[in-house]
Amino acid sequence: MSPVPPNNIPTSFGPEEAATYDERFSKLSAVNSLLHLVVQSQFASLPDTAHILIAGAGTGAEVRYLAPLFPSWRFTLADPSDAMLEIARRHAVEEGFADRCTFHAGYVSSLPEAEFDAATSLLVSHFLNEEEDRTAYYSSIAERLRPGAPLFEAALCGNRSDPIFEMEMDVWLGLLTLAGMAAEGRENYRKSFGTLFAAHDPSEVEKMIGAAKFDRPVQCFQAGLIRGWITQRL
Ligand SMILES: C[S@@+](CC[C@H](N)C(=O)[O-])C[C@H]1O[C@@H](n2cnc3c(N)ncnc32)[C@H](O)[C@@H]1O
Repeated sequence: MSPVPPNNIPTSFGPEEAATYDERFSKLSAVNSLLHLVVQSQFASLPDTAHILIAGAGTGAEVRYLAPLFPSWRFTLADPSDAMLEIARRHAVEEGFADRCTFHAGYVSSLPEAEFDAATSLLVSHFLNEEEDRTAYYSSIAERLRPGAPLFEAALCGNRSDPIFEMEMDVWLGLLTLAGMAAEGRENYRKSFGTLFAAHDPSEVEKMIGAAKFDRPVQCFQAGLIRGWITQRL
């Protein structure tokens, strides 16, 4: 395993990409809204004092949804992209919940030891193509959760050896077309899927989550190639 997980962060989530990230997928906001709604339902029984780890927080979409609904929860947002996290901080200030947030510009593995009550990892882990790196990422989350604490994980995945996969990809590209992705972008996306990102199929993802001291994950969300699971720290 490399000390710092290899991924495309400098090019995919630099200042320019961060500045347009929120807008880029705004036409698919219904997908994000449903994902957040399922997270809300899974975390609803957490105590008022809950402290939530947001792994790969990006520009803070999940915190912006959860913070107003649970006005005494605290959040730690971890992300290796300064540019993405800076936008998350700006949203938190403008929307009045920054005093409940800690911003950590770095990987989860560089966070101090803690006992979080829950964690989210939304649309992050598909950037980790090596099984060892992805399992280490899940372990870095598990090590910072109290026993029994839930993890909500959502990522792009697909079984590329399944004959139906190309049709599943077409369904997903149909959604990305609505989001404004042009034909050339869609062709590049098809080629990059499974090579530059999202190299694991759903059963492999479930195995890696399980290998990182989490209970057997239960799939509770799917939209195109995005799947979401709920699990608990053992
Ligand atoms: C597609 S964005 C998702 C952001 C946010 N969770 C959301 O749902 O909008 C992916 C984020 O994961 C971050 N990221 C990539 N690799 C990571 C890693 N190994 N650990 C933590 N975050 C990572 C990127 O910097 C980026 O901000």
